[in-house]
Parts: sequence; structure tokens; C-alpha cells
Amino acid sequence: MKGFVNVPRASRILKNRDEAPDIKTYTLAFEAWHEVQPGQFMELFVEGFWEIPISVAAVEEGAVLLTIARVGKVTGALFRHREGECVGLRGPYGRPWPMEELRGRRVLLVIGGLGLAPVRMVIERLAGPEITLVYGARSPELLLYRYRYPEWQQRGMQVLLTVDRADETWQGPVGVVTTLLNPELVQAHEVALVAGPPIMMKFATKALEEMGLPPDRVYVTLENHMKCGVGLCGHCRIGDKYVCVDGPVFRLDEVRHLETWAAGEVL
Ligand SMILES: Cc1cc2nc3c(=O)[nH]c(=O)nc-3n(C[C@H](O)[C@H](O)[C@H](O)COP(=O)(O)OP(=O)(O)OC[C@H]3O[C@@H](n4cnc5c(N)ncnc54)[C@H](O)[C@@H]3O)c2cc1C
Ligand code: FES
Repeated sequence: MKGFVNVPRASRILKNRDEAPDIKTYTLAFEAWHEVQPGQFMELFVEGFWEIPISVAAVEEGAVLLTIARVGKVTGALFRHREGECVGLRGPYGRPWPMEELRGRRVLLVIGGLGLAPVRMVIERLAGPEITLVYGARSPELLLYRYRYPEWQQRGMQVLLTVDRADETWQGPVGVVTTLLNPELVQAHEVALVAGPPIMMKFATKALEEMGLPPDRVYVTLENHMKCGVGLCGHCRIGDKYVCVDGPVFRLDEVRHLETWAAGEVL
């Protein structure tokens, strides 16, 4: 495996940026940044705690950017670290988005909440008139990377936003992300990428299929608890798939038979 490192290497926190309440983007020094493909993840190690898988949201010279929500032990410990301190990193791991297939095609991104992190690299590379982002979050303050939208739109990408609950700053649509989908929009695209909470992915993939996109033209990224991240421990298995090596990106027709996924349960 190219760039395979099974032991965490020390990585300095170069920058940490508040994205939203309890969500930060960490810029972490990483020599092999150029080996990361869109959709892959890193194992992030916090000393005294354990390792967690985190998608790579973006890369820049000498660094990876990881957008992380504080939800529990390891992420809580990470949030107590300051710029200049070190964590551990190993990776990149996992099957990426099918970039060769996406290039030059009309791609619809249907994304909920933190799901924008694993597709951000796709957008940074492909943003243009062929790409449409349909993105929803629970509230306006939880819409990630708002500072990037002007550039993406300038490059011709359509950005359609919705929130579940408006506040006084919000002028746009209110409702779950699938309310922005319609057959005309869906059929104007050849491929769709879906990322977000399992329940959102369940309804989004169903809507895409009903509106005319067959499952072999829809890709999803799945999450599950992981340990090794490299196909050895079986911890991440859902049905006959290991999320860490068979995924996290799957074509919908490869995973729609899986019970947990089909039920849309939180894994
Ligand atoms: C391939 C992959 C990519 C991921 N990318 C990101 C990312 O870009 N940003 C990000 O913030 N998180 C991401 N996650 C989820 C992240 O790994 C978990 O939030 C993290 O492991 C929680 O660790 P913790 O010790 O802080 O929480 P814990 O104390 O372990 O758990 C806190 C709560 O979160 C739940 N939880 C823990 N892990 C997961 C999981 N994998 N899926 C669903 N619920 C979980 C637990 O059941 C518990 O309710 C990704 C997971 C995978 C598998
Ligand atoms: S996390 Fe060990 S096999 Fe996937």
C-alpha cells in the first residue's frame, strides 16, 4: 500500500480554526499530504487516549486539514490541545471517491452536516459548472466552510443550501436536504455523491433513485467504529464489508443489501 504507515507519527497542530460550535478544522503537519486521495481518512492518535478515524477535508503543502466534531473521549481530549502541540497520525487509508469517473461528468453532491468534510477535496478539485452542491445542516451556524462558497460559486458550481431550523440571519430555504431535490435537478446530473448522517443518506439515496439516478451511479461514504483501520481486526465490518478497506466510499448497489445501512440506523 502506497504511503502505508501502521504506526502513528508525531504531527504538529499548525492551526486550529473554529468552524461551528464544537466543530474545529485542524491543520496538521503531514509529509505525505500529496498521497491523500479525496474521500480517504487518517487515524488520529491523541496521547493517553486512543485513535479515531477522521476524513481528510483538504490538503495543503506539508499538511492535512481535518474537520472534527467534539462528541466524546478522544475528540474531547483533542479539543484541549493548542496550536504547536503534537498528536499522532497514520494513513491515508480507505477507498477514495472515484475521481476518474467523476472528472468531466455532471456530478450532484447531496450532503448533510459534517458530511461536507469527506467531499470537500472533491469540490476543491472539480468545482465548475458541471457540479452542483445540495447541502443541508441543522442550523445556519452548522453549515461548514461558508468562507469557501464564494470561490466555488465563482468557478461556476451551483451551491444550494437549506437548514432544518432558521435563525434571524437566514434568508434561504428551511427543511431537510431532500426537499431541495427534484427530478429535473437530479436528471440533469450523471453521478451523485451522498455523505452525511445515516438517516439522511437513507432518504437521500431513496429520493435519488426515485427521481431517476440508478444505484450504480450513486456513491456513498459510510462510517462505523474502527480499530486498526487497515482490514485486520474486523471491528468496522457491516455485513460482508469492511468499511476501512472496502470503503469508506461505496457504490450504492454494493451496500444497499446491508441491513444496518438499509435501516438507516446510526452505526
Ligand atoms: C471513515 C470515517 C471518517 C470519519 N470522519 C470524521 C470527520 O471527518 N470528522 C468527525 O468529526 N468525525 C469523523 N468520523 C467519526 C469519528 O471517528 C468519531 O466521531 C470519533 O471516533 C469519536 O471518538 P470519541 O472518542 O471522541 O467519541 P466516543 O467517546 O468514542 O463516542 C462518543 C459518541 O459518538 C459515537 N461514535 C463514535 N464513533 C462513531 C462513528 N464512527 N460513527 C458514528 N458514531 C460514532 C459513539 O457511539 C458515542 O455515542 C469518521 C468516522 C469514520 C469511520
Ligand atoms: S477497523 Fe480493523 S478491520 Fe476495519
